[in-house]
This record gives sequence, structure tokens and C-alpha cells, in this order.
Amino acid sequence: MTRILVTGALGQIGTELAAELSARYGKSSVVISDVRKPDEVDGKLKFVSLDVTDSENIAKVLVENEITDIFHMAAILSASGEKNPALAYRVNSDGTFNILEEARKAGINRVMIPSTIGVFGPETPRINTPDITVLRPTTMYGITKVNAELLALYYRDKFDLDVRGLRFPGIISYLTPPSAGTTDYAVDIFYHAVQEKDYKCYLKKDTPLPMMYMPDALNALIQLFEAKRENLRHCLEYNVSAYSFTPEEIYGKIREVYPDFRITYEPDFRQNIAETWPASLDTHFAKEDWNFTPQYDLKRTVDDMIMNLKRILIHQ
Ligand SMILES: NC(=O)c1ccc[n+]([C@@H]2O[C@H](COP(=O)([O-])OP(=O)(O)OC[C@H]3O[C@@H](n4cnc5c(N)ncnc54)[C@H](O)[C@@H]3O)[C@@H](O)[C@H]2O)c1
Repeated sequence: MTRILVTGALGQIGTELAAELSARYGKSSVVISDVRKPDEVDGKLKFVSLDVTDSENIAKVLVENEITDIFHMAAILSASGEKNPALAYRVNSDGTFNILEEARKAGINRVMIPSTIGVFGPETPRINTPDITVLRPTTMYGITKVNAELLALYYRDKFDLDVRGLRFPGIISYLTPPSAGTTDYAVDIFYHAVQEKDYKCYLKKDTPLPMMYMPDALNALIQLFEAKRENLRHCLEYNVSAYSFTPEEIYGKIREVYPDFRITYEPDFRQNIAETWPASLDTHFAKEDWNFTPQYDLKRTVDDMIMNLKRILIHQ
């Protein structure tokens, strides 16, 4: 029987991923964990407290819960990582090493590790960034994620551990707010529009970044998890993305629904990070190896975000 441990399961992606995995494989097949405690325990899924920097506890949790597969979602994201680089290093680099090492020792079947466009840097081609290219990031987040990509390759090649992953762009979603990444504005802007508040954007209006909607992000991850191993020529170096836009472009789309919505621009340190990241991604490895195609274009994303946020924020 498949029994999946999700680390960082209370985060933006982990929360929805755990729900999707339990819908797919059954509630008893998913164990959620995080360094934080859940606000409310709804009893739907088993929760265990797990700090990924604690390798002894990882080993214990894997054995006690008869875990067969891991989705390793615990991380410190780009903006938090710049505020606390030492913590980002411990969680993202040491934590990922601990997960891989304990997974190897416990004979885990598959370890899923999301990577990020944060692995790219100023020397990477910014337009249609290839899957395999220069990885010289300038943020601690990016450095630790390159480290995670290389560790994953090492564990796959040296120990035959089945490690899989992909590079997410900014993820747009309405259920769990993003923590502190550079692409968070693309979620915040919707909350402001629906609540009819003005929005102050921390990026310049003409800064393009690749993005995708949460249902596509979950599909990408789960399809990769279910793909035949022999079809996967790569490890974590799979770019995925649905579209790219600038703050001004997404603002324009939202204004089609909320014509009175106002935005101002006050770039902060996240502008410097965004300028080192790709404007668009070449995603052909994911298409070729596991046939990934996103279902949500920008219009469908905007319509769905507004409909759901109205339901949650206004009609509740
Ligand atoms: N959200 C995005 O836009 C995005 C984009 C690219 C890549 N990713 C990647 O996807 C993964 C999940 O991201 P997310 O957006 O859900 O992040 P998030 O910050 O929303 O959630 C991360 C979770 O990890 C937990 N955590 C932090 N330190 C921990 C520790 N020591 N032990 C255990 N748990 C710990 C946090 O409490 C949090 O619940 C990360 O690997 C991230 O790099 C996310």
C-alpha cells in the first residue's frame, strides 16, 4: 500500500497537495507534517510534527508511519530566505539532505522535491529559459535549491533512489496564502481587487515572470509522481509554467472585472530578485517525458481566482 509523507504540508502548495493526494489515494494513504502546528485539527488526515532539520525524527516518522513515498514541500522561500539566509540554508539544504539520506536508508520508493525558477540567475538566458542552462543564482533560496537539485541527482545516480521534481514558477492560488516569495504579488493583487482595496505592488510594472495556477501545479507534480520511471530522463530539471505576465498586464486583466481597482508601484528588494529570474520558460522536457500540458490559461485563471475569492471573502 502507498503511504505518502508530505513535509511542509501546511504551506501554500502542501495544503492543497495533501487534499489532492488523499482524494486520489485515500485518507489513510497520506500523513501530513510540518514544523508548525495546524491551527485546527480537523481529523481528516493524520498530522505529525516534523522539523526536516531533525534527521532522527525523520527516520522515526518514516518507520512509525510505514511511509513508502515522500513529497518534500518544506522550505524557506526567496523573500524569507533573504531575511534569514542561515535558516534558509538549514531548512532547504540540510533539510533536503536529511530527507534524501533518511529516504535512502528507509528504502523509500519515490521522493518528490519541487524546485523553482529561483535556481536561475543573472547569467541565465531570461527568455524561454532552457531546462538545462547556467545555474548561478544570487539569492540564498536559489543557492540552496541548486544544491537540492544536485543532491537529488547524486542520490539518484549513486544510490538509485527514485527522486523526481520540477521547477515551479510563481504559483497562483486562493486557499492558503503564499508565505514570502517574490511572486506573491500575483496572489495578493487578487485579494485586494476582490475586497475593493487599492494595491501597492512591490515589483515594477514591467517585470515579467512565469506563473501557473494551483490546479495545474498539483497536476504537474502528481503526474510526475505517477509517470513511469523509465520515461524520465531527468531528475529535478523540468521547467513547468503556463504563462508569463507583468504586474501591469495582470492588473489590466483584473480591471476588466473591477474597473475602479487602483494600483501603485513601490519596488523593494524583491525587484532585485525578480530581475535575476526568467521572464519565460522553455518547458519541453516536461512535455516530452511525462506529457505535461497546463489546462489554465491566464483568462481562465483570473476568472476562477475571482469567483473563488468572492465566495470565500464576501459570501461566507
Ligand atoms: N509557492 C510558489 O510560488 C513556489 C514556486 C516555486 C517553487 N516552490 C517550491 O514549492 C515548495 C513548497 O512551497 P510553498 O509555496 O508551499 O511554501 P510555503 O512557505 O507556503 O510552505 C512551506 C512550509 O514548510 C514549513 N517549514 C518551514 N521550515 C520547516 C522545517 N524546518 N521543517 C518542516 N517544515 C518546515 C513551513 O511551516 C510551511 O508550512 C518549496 O520547495 C518551494 O521552494 C513554490
